[in-house]
Amino acid sequence: CGIVGYVGPNDTVEALLNGLRRLEYRGYDSAGIAVVDETGGISVRKRSGKLARLEELLAENPVSATGTGIGHTRWATHGGPTDVNAHPHLGDDGKLALIHNGIVENFAELRAELEADGVELVSETDTEVVAKLVGREVAETGDLETAFRNVVKRLHGTFTLLAMHRDEPGKVVSARHHSPLVVGLGDGENFLGSDVAAFVSATRRAVAVDEDNIAVITPEEVRITDFDGNPVEYSEFEVEWDADAADKGGWSSFMAKEINEQPEAVENTVRGRVVDGLVDIPELSALGDDRLREIDRIIIIACGTASYAGQVGSYAIEQWARIPVEVQLSHEFRYRDPVLSDRTMVISVSQSGETMDTLMAVKYAIERGVTTVSVCNTQSATIPRESDAAVYTHAGPEVAVASTKAFTAQITALYLIGLHLGRVRGTLSAEASAEAVQQFAELPEKMREAVATHEQIAQLAHWMADTRSVLFLGRHVGYPIALEGALKLKEIAYIHAEGFAAGELKHGPIALIDHGQPVFVLVPSPRTAPLMHSKVVSNIQEIRARGARVIAIVEVGDTAVLPYADDVIRLPLADALFEPLLEVVPLQWFALELSTAKGLDVDQPRNLAKSVTVE
Ligand code: G6P
Repeated sequence: CGIVGYVGPNDTVEALLNGLRRLEYRGYDSAGIAVVDETGGISVRKRSGKLARLEELLAENPVSATGTGIGHTRWATHGGPTDVNAHPHLGDDGKLALIHNGIVENFAELRAELEADGVELVSETDTEVVAKLVGREVAETGDLETAFRNVVKRLHGTFTLLAMHRDEPGKVVSARHHSPLVVGLGDGENFLGSDVAAFVSATRRAVAVDEDNIAVITPEEVRITDFDGNPVEYSEFEVEWDADAADKGGWSSFMAKEINEQPEAVENTVRGRVVDGLVDIPELSALGDDRLREIDRIIIIACGTASYAGQVGSYAIEQWARIPVEVQLSHEFRYRDPVLSDRTMVISVSQSGETMDTLMAVKYAIERGVTTVSVCNTQSATIPRESDAAVYTHAGPEVAVASTKAFTAQITALYLIGLHLGRVRGTLSAEASAEAVQQFAELPEKMREAVATHEQIAQLAHWMADTRSVLFLGRHVGYPIALEGALKLKEIAYIHAEGFAAGELKHGPIALIDHGQPVFVLVPSPRTAPLMHSKVVSNIQEIRARGARVIAIVEVGDTAVLPYADDVIRLPLADALFEPLLEVVPLQWFALELSTAKGLDVDQPRNLAKSVTVE
């Protein structure tokens, strides 16, 4: 869910909506705001559906606020996405409003307590239970902060909570427990948000609130305490993202814009990390070379698209640093009792740095005493702050739910880590290092050519708009790209799609091939990977003989596949390890174009949220 809080002299409703527009990628099942209105009471406007529906409601039934407000965009957990279940929720006397991101695990018990007291609950949410509890405490103690603290201490689970009370206008209180919260420091106004996007158009000065802390904002002041009310020191940081970067500009969708931004995303991720022709990541150097030399095993943990970036990265890290690397889904990692030692390095990959499954896996790894490195795109997010080292991707804000530029930037960061480790450990030859650095230098231009396949892909997608199933085949680093191509189609075009390792085809999936079945095949380079190339060409012949419609993604000049492919998409020459960074681009376009052809919302696919902050 996305959360925003505002105190200050400016148009409060607009400040909240502005924040919500930039946070909508965190969830869009419903949206709502609460403000202290002109009469001094609390006014709530909330509605199921996307933010636009709330904006319609506000147009029909406007509210003028006096400088205190909270807003929420929801990804439903407890209770379906209905108007009633939308946040904010009110205290029993209607004087308090509260919003919540996360899950309160002991809510049934708390709800029973309230019901025994005769309190009537109108929604099915855990959040309303908290609102009623805080409301009751305020009535008893006469003080919002005390009441809020008393209730927060009773909650189990994960939460970011924001609350305000009509008797204390000009103040919003907030708490965080395993769920993100940042403060935006303005001039005579202050903000709260689940991430900096909530206020980046108004201020770039921010404070990351620590775990189990409470932040209280008024227009003049920000106070942070622990759950017992003891003051906590904090330091501010400057947000690097500029506000325009989070706007759609002239693009038809954020996803289209972000696909286009990939050459720069990759370039920015490499920038500053190549010194005298060698890869040097200061954040890794800070861990100490001895520690890096002792690492004997790497486990990459991630979810979704980030896990496929991890899989691509695993090939490169093994090749350059000669350390065994395995990739595990974050939510599986913890439950298998993994074999870990102080020589293990766990690298987490997360665009948001807040994915709860990954955060919990990182915490588990920290408890087990391993070295943790975070590959993350969001400054001061929880995962990089908890980890021993943070290697940021510099892709800029990614808004579309389906990840594109963060993915290629993640692969880039993992490659840089592999090159850094290889250099420190002496496993990387000078030639291999120079070659990789050269590949990075040429990459942005080649990616621009990959982006330029758009037109060709758009035609293909137009033709395939009624397709009900698509298969993707790849080998080596092309295999995770096949998985990613399939995931993209599922996510935004709601089409059944599967990726396979090309060699696995004959062990089962080939039974799926029927007349007209579209299959994308990622063909390795005949120059740099001749053996793999010939194997994949054989695979193409096998499926073609069984009626498949083959769409081959090849490097320019590869003519071997021409007789067997129905469509050929040509990409510039690159070393085998660098091909995924080009190959994924037409697959991203394909998903986008099929989604568009089906009339779907490319940026906000059903049931998904970009940043899933529940387990
Ligand atoms: C969600 C999104 C995916 C994303 C995954 C990991 O499931 O829908 O697109 O890949 O989370 O997100 P992260 O922020 O950890 O990279």
